[in-house]
Amino acid sequence: MSTPIAVMGAQWGDEGKGKIVDLLSKDHDLVVRYQGGNNAGHTVQIGEHTHKLHLVPSGMLSGKECVLGNGTVIEPRALLDELQALPPACDRSLLRISERAHVVLCTHALLDWAAEQGSGIGTTKKGIGPAYTSKAARFGAVRMCELANERLLAEMFTRELPRVVRELMGLADHAELQRKVAMEYPGCHDGEHLLSPAKMARYYALLGRQLTSHLANTSDIVNGTIAQGKRVLFEGAQGAMLDVDHGTYPYVTSSSTTRGGVFTGSGYNGSAGLYVLGVTKAYTTRVGAGPFPTELHDAHGDALCERGHEFGTTTGRKRRCGWLDIPALRYAHGINGFDALALMKLDVLSGMEKVRVCTGYTHKGKAASAFPATTADLEMMKPVYEDLQGWKEDITGVRSFEDLPAACRSYVERIEQLIGVPVSLVSVGPERSQTIVRASIGGERI
Ligand code: IMP
Repeated sequence: MSTPIAVMGAQWGDEGKGKIVDLLSKDHDLVVRYQGGNNAGHTVQIGEHTHKLHLVPSGMLSGKECVLGNGTVIEPRALLDELQALPPACDRSLLRISERAHVVLCTHALLDWAAEQGSGIGTTKKGIGPAYTSKAARFGAVRMCELANERLLAEMFTRELPRVVRELMGLADHAELQRKVAMEYPGCHDGEHLLSPAKMARYYALLGRQLTSHLANTSDIVNGTIAQGKRVLFEGAQGAMLDVDHGTYPYVTSSSTTRGGVFTGSGYNGSAGLYVLGVTKAYTTRVGAGPFPTELHDAHGDALCERGHEFGTTTGRKRRCGWLDIPALRYAHGINGFDALALMKLDVLSGMEKVRVCTGYTHKGKAASAFPATTADLEMMKPVYEDLQGWKEDITGVRSFEDLPAACRSYVERIEQLIGVPVSLVSVGPERSQTIVRASIGGERI
């Protein structure tokens, strides 16, 4: 049996996992998404073409069998649109969807939008939080195995929709809500009642029927593939600091984005172990609200944003940028037990006089020993910086570690030392070829 690899965000998402999964997937037989939904955004550049994926695993672009596991939440219309937008040569039948995965309904997206006006978490408004809430509450929830069953949906919506509509009406302005439903979900709209159970059942069953051929017991596929000695790659979405348990709560997403999520979200039984590759940028970014100790509000922050093209793949929002946050990475390593790191976007730092890394925090003048659990405490933390020499050279054409400028190598080596994890991959540009491989990944030669 070969040990599967999990590619996991070590920061607040957007680390560049899509590129790494794309790179690794050529030597894998199965690529598995195990959490999140179409809140994720993976940009994969192949040659001149940029592919933006949200729910479809990046492995689809390399013609690999792919799974959306039970821990994901599926917006059926968005998934069908995304499948349609794939390059024509892509074999859609390679996608298997867990029959146990939950569905993101229009009610969830509407609740996310309405709640966001008050909470200010800065969600992607895709309905992810409310879909996971319904799953845990066992109310207003539909699983993929039920989606094509119009009769069952009609019964469920008739029983449960009035309570959801009341909640929506209590959260948002009525006229605005009516306009939004009429515009975005005309097939489900029902005048003053807002949403019609019968229309919704018809609408979703129609979408469900288009996805039925993809449904499967995906944990059997995952465990069966591993038992056959084939290679499985787990593709994480978001990042450790957005994990619902371990992240900067409540400014987190609603799923498990750390090591444990692989097992609960895919049904992998762990028999062949797990090799975890953490992905981090050479600096830190965050999109949405929440504490961010090393955030820069100066020209350096603007430069990182501009040079790194730091705009969200899913929402187009400008990402907040700052120097590399080592205490946050150490914390992420503590939870995930990274076997190696991929350091992304190192080329963005080229041309800077000096490069800073945050090596620790202080609180009221004293060194903080632990990564704080509360937003209030994290907001009080003052970063302690170490200045390293910058480098002027353009490194986008460099393909071996030894050919990087000395200052650039020192930066990478200092990061390894501070986190205590080897940096096995270094990315110096968006293309597949712009990658420096320093060591094999889980026995994999890339
Ligand atoms: P939600 O996942 O839409 O509920 O959003 C919750 C938080 O997670 C917000 O701060 C989002 O900006 C953030 N988030 C969700 N998905 C991603 C992602 O793929 N990359 C970066 N941030 C994300």
